[in-house]
Amino acid sequence: MKVIYPGSFDPVTFGHLDIIERCSKKFEHVIVAVLNNTSKKRSFFSIEERIKLLEETTKHLKNVEIDAFSGLLAEYADKKGCSTMIRGLRAVSDFEYEMQMALVNRKLNKDIETLFMVSRGGEHVYLSSSIVREIASYGGNVSCFVPEPVERALKDKFKGGI
Ligand code: PNS
Repeated sequence: MKVIYPGSFDPVTFGHLDIIERCSKKFEHVIVAVLNNTSKKRSFFSIEERIKLLEETTKHLKNVEIDAFSGLLAEYADKKGCSTMIRGLRAVSDFEYEMQMALVNRKLNKDIETLFMVSRGGEHVYLSSSIVREIASYGGNVSCFVPEPVERALKDKFKGGI
């Protein structure tokens, strides 16, 4: 089975990579679909940077493809001929938004099924890209949250200060 794992990945964290690795073991093909934001909400890393970091950190997984999408996920799913979405659940607080998104996507495209993967636990429960950006912006150590290429990219972005 082919699945889509959509997200902003701004930037990719060990939490995302855990889900991607577990998906790559369970499914034949995994499309990591990176949202190419419109003007409404600007991302911290550009779409090119986010894709490059994902490619670099998943290159050992041969059945994982990194792709960008813009517009509705339901339409992208249709275009890719793949109706199974994967989302990670860290804590109960994620549930309401995830449930809403899954229901909206199924309303827009009746074939879409969203499968939830429970996060590995431990520090993955509170890990998020925004927390990582915040810590990095103050020069904090993020090596336990993100792989080395992401750590370097964050250092580079913040080298002139916030
Ligand atoms: O990593 P994120 O930010 O939680 O991912 C959210 C994402 C990109 C999966 C979601 O915002 C999305 O699918 N956006 C595309 C627009 C869309 O389809 N919206 C309707 C579903 S709520």
